[in-house]
Amino acid sequence: MTEFIEQAHEFGFETRQLHAGQRPDPNTGARAVPIFQTTSYVFEDPESAAAYFNLQEYGNTYSRIMNPTVAVFEERVANLEGGSGAVAFASGIAAQAAALFTLLEPGDHVVASAALYGGTVNQFKHLLRKMNVELTWVDPDDADAWRKAVGANTKAFFAETIGNPGGNVLDIETVAGIAHEHRLPLIVDNTFATPYLCRPIEWGADIVVHSATKFLGGHGTSIGGVVTEAGTFDWSNGRFPVVADPSPAYHGLQFHETFGTYGYLMKLRAETLRDLGGALSPFNAFLFLQGMETLSLRMERHVANAQQVAAFLEAHPLASRVSYPGLPSSGYRPLVDKYLPLGAGAVFSFDCAGGRDGGQDLIRNVTLWSHLANVGDAKSLIIHPASTTHRQLSDEELQAAGVGPGTVRLSVGTESVQDLIWDLEQALGKVAAG
Ligand SMILES: Cc1ncc(COP(=O)(O)O)c(C=O)c1O
Repeated sequence: MTEFIEQAHEFGFETRQLHAGQRPDPNTGARAVPIFQTTSYVFEDPESAAAYFNLQEYGNTYSRIMNPTVAVFEERVANLEGGSGAVAFASGIAAQAAALFTLLEPGDHVVASAALYGGTVNQFKHLLRKMNVELTWVDPDDADAWRKAVGANTKAFFAETIGNPGGNVLDIETVAGIAHEHRLPLIVDNTFATPYLCRPIEWGADIVVHSATKFLGGHGTSIGGVVTEAGTFDWSNGRFPVVADPSPAYHGLQFHETFGTYGYLMKLRAETLRDLGGALSPFNAFLFLQGMETLSLRMERHVANAQQVAAFLEAHPLASRVSYPGLPSSGYRPLVDKYLPLGAGAVFSFDCAGGRDGGQDLIRNVTLWSHLANVGDAKSLIIHPASTTHRQLSDEELQAAGVGPGTVRLSVGTESVQDLIWDLEQALGKVAAG
């Protein structure tokens, strides 16, 4: 990690979200992180170029693999999540694919929560099958289901801290414990919680992935993703020759033996990012860094607003099944108290009376909430998952993801909460009037 956190003093989250991974540019004194809009870097001499490409020395080679602006973003996320390092990608979906590609081979098997973002369900169901990787979906709340799903070829568990859009909260410590009993890593998508509300690594997760597109960026401007690793998983435990054995894709390099704590991340960068090529642009990294400077402040407001909007809906006769895990009535309350003491995020769903027509009517009649396919913007967002984000899912998969015909998903922004409630109230009034 950077010198910044090697000092004896432990800096707080709010300080690290502003400073981690960066010091003013030594050449110019620039205080903001400079945007290094360059594809490549002039080498000092042939020997140092060779050392970089051999991974004997760490230095900039080509911006598909590394870039100084992107590196600050990676360091900052790793720092806030408590990881050993991080690798950024052009989207959240690229980040999670790369996290898995790095540790999978054809014939392997993944156990995944059935309550995931619809795009992740599609990716796992179709892309993994093309790679000849088997998949078992499990109810994330059922510890025995995780345990029973493990086979000799299983290579990872995958789940979301807070499920999209069902609002289920993962019992991270329990599921990580089961993964570790079987010498498997737990991969957690922490997009909805952000490291401000929950740091899965502190509870035993081994790899944390993010769609930075959402709350990390926070302003709906850029698509990006990032993978961070705890750095404690033993990739030489016999189950992961693909990480531990000499790699044919990197002239026989043994990533875990050579780089230890950073072995998996080095392979993720030097092979997977090199070969799949989904690199984050320096400009988007800059925008994510801008967003992250206010992460804690925005999240405090997001969760306070979400709590009030959820309470309003729970009391409304036209709303049912309000899935906000922060509600006192939620079955997830004990898990929220344990894993999300600062708040249960700001994305949840509810069922609007009148089924599909009711849900769509509500969306037609809101004026302040924006109807679009994103979450985690400072502006409040609304969508009808069954006809959009979760459209490709079968009825069974919709049910597992907590999506019914009248389900509406909200991403509660940071506006005046009275205005958000006023808008929902008037739109629900129009739904009632037919
Ligand atoms: C929980 C979650 N994970 C991953 C993704 C994929 O991220 P991206 O859209 O940045 O590829 C999304 C997108 O909505 C998401 O909600």
